[in-house]
Amino acid sequence: MTYLGVDYYPEHWPKEMMEEDLTGIKGLGANMVRIGEFAWHLMEPEEGKFDFSFFDDVIEQVKQKDMNVMFGTPTATFPAWLADQHPSILSEDEYGNKRVFGGRRQYCFNSDIYRDLAGRITMKLVQHYAGEEAIISWQIDNEFGHEGSDQCYCDQCRAKFHTYLQEKYQTIDELNEEWGTIFWGQTYNAFSEIPVPKPTVTTHNPSLKLEWARFRSVSVNSFTHEMTAIVREFKGNHQSVTTNVSGGFFDKWFDHADNVQVMDYVSYDNYPVWGGLEKPVPPEAIAMTHDFNRGLLDQNYWIVEELMGAQGHDVIGYLPRPNQAKMWSYQAFAHGCSNMLYFRWRGMTKGAEQFCYGVVDHDNVYGRKYKEVQSVFEDIQSYNEVLDSEISSDVAVLYDYDNIWSWRSQIQSKDFDFNEELLRLYRPFYKKNIHIDVIPADRPLESYKVVVVPVMLILDDELAGRLRQFAEQGGTVILSFRAGLKDKSNNLRLGHVLPGPVRDLVGARVEEIESLTTSHNLTLKGHGDYADIPANISVWRDLLVAESADVLYEYTDAFYSDYAAVTKNSFGKGNVYYIGGGLDEAALDEIAATVLNTHRIDTIESDDGVEVYHRNSDGEDYLFVMNHTDQVKTFYNENLDPYESKILRP
Ligand code: GAL
Repeated sequence: MTYLGVDYYPEHWPKEMMEEDLTGIKGLGANMVRIGEFAWHLMEPEEGKFDFSFFDDVIEQVKQKDMNVMFGTPTATFPAWLADQHPSILSEDEYGNKRVFGGRRQYCFNSDIYRDLAGRITMKLVQHYAGEEAIISWQIDNEFGHEGSDQCYCDQCRAKFHTYLQEKYQTIDELNEEWGTIFWGQTYNAFSEIPVPKPTVTTHNPSLKLEWARFRSVSVNSFTHEMTAIVREFKGNHQSVTTNVSGGFFDKWFDHADNVQVMDYVSYDNYPVWGGLEKPVPPEAIAMTHDFNRGLLDQNYWIVEELMGAQGHDVIGYLPRPNQAKMWSYQAFAHGCSNMLYFRWRGMTKGAEQFCYGVVDHDNVYGRKYKEVQSVFEDIQSYNEVLDSEISSDVAVLYDYDNIWSWRSQIQSKDFDFNEELLRLYRPFYKKNIHIDVIPADRPLESYKVVVVPVMLILDDELAGRLRQFAEQGGTVILSFRAGLKDKSNNLRLGHVLPGPVRDLVGARVEEIESLTTSHNLTLKGHGDYADIPANISVWRDLLVAESADVLYEYTDAFYSDYAAVTKNSFGKGNVYYIGGGLDEAALDEIAATVLNTHRIDTIESDDGVEVYHRNSDGEDYLFVMNHTDQVKTFYNENLDPYESKILRP
């Protein structure tokens, strides 16, 4: 069965409306509501006094409509009494300001008091409903780390940071040596002297910054795992466990694959456009988020918040055009979303999210958006097995949070953006309508034919070894600039000519480097098949000298025209490409086409803005077709209206 429904907040409305609302929700074709994730105060109005009667009632009524429930543990927003009685639970920003009560997610992950009280409400709630057949899943907290909540610089965090460092380095001498604290005379006599990276004059030690990022990750993930263990201990056997991943996951300070390893499945909150944005993020950026979420546990996932109306807290964003949000739902289903809940049943008239519009707005009219959701639910139910079918990919894009955090602490080019650099290499493959996995770099590579490794500056011998083996056995590896620059302590390596541990694979060395901007575009000259494909490079450039590699592009500007910008090396039975900077689209398209052709990976041609995703279930083929544009398009002789989506049987 496919679970379809909405996020429902019955506590926002007069109780008498519940029957009407649930009838409206049922009328969508829904079979599930997600409730409860911000309602701690309703369940524990005073410390230690628990009362679940409100939700007992809600669940009774939901059951009468023959629907199921996902229940969120309410720890993302705590009651005012809690902050009042235990102010130490409030997190602190980098300037030492305690976050005040109000808003949400303003707790410190390292507060023992918060962990105790959050653990207790979680336990009481789950114990209360362990036998409730209608609750088929628990959601832990809500969007860990979102809206900057994964950073806290308070004294509790600092003390635990010291313990974390002591456990890792054992002796302070070891830490001093590894971090190079001799520089600027920062040698520590004791772990207790180590600062947290609050603002200082110029910048902190890079090793400290990376360890702080790792420590933030441990803080978020140990909290998540502690709460999940409580749910697992007390829940009913029929109840599964998830947590919802928010957008902007590469900008967060915790390792997501580690975070969700204790979950039965991943849930994602899909908002292709949000407050203040004039237009949605590009289709490939949305697609990449789905591939990332599928990659977290290497299985299909849920969407528990799918956007339907315009969103924003104080500033509202773009209004999805008729059928556009519906089309994003089909895109999600195509990429492996197996169950979907829309955010949210009805926009609230009061509170901070007055402008987060839902399936229904405050006018309470069941209008265009209601009908769109209804049509999705009606149609998609006949594809249960397709939605559950496994997706396998020949192409993988690798990422690693240590690497992302290292870039964040030293962006090196003022226009460097990790998301953009990952998308730069993802996009040309996406355009060919193939399956792409976006996965952590420590995953096995054997099942792939092509491995794309964007800007992997922390690249150790272990990963280099696996890439070497992959290429030797016939795979294609695509690396981009700054690969192999740093070690696990975020330091450079004496005597390592770049690209360090992958120099033999790349068959070229980096002699000099230059940080460029996006407006500083350098023209390249192509060779061989690339002679007629114009190319520019921006953001960054590595100046390469080919050793065994072929030069695909070289620089043309004075002083540097002897240097290569893009190379290709044969290695074992495979090939290794090195993209020495922010290469523009045409050249990358050609590289992707060649690589896909070499490996005989099936591609699907489609017009610009038309995305096609192939699924196979029980030997039957299905093509999910999404028109991301406001123009009429055609695909396989089928007309696609603006923003139309279809499932075709080729
Ligand atoms: C999500 C969040 C929801 C709601 C929504 C508004 O990030 O999980 O609780 O705030 O955004 O668009």
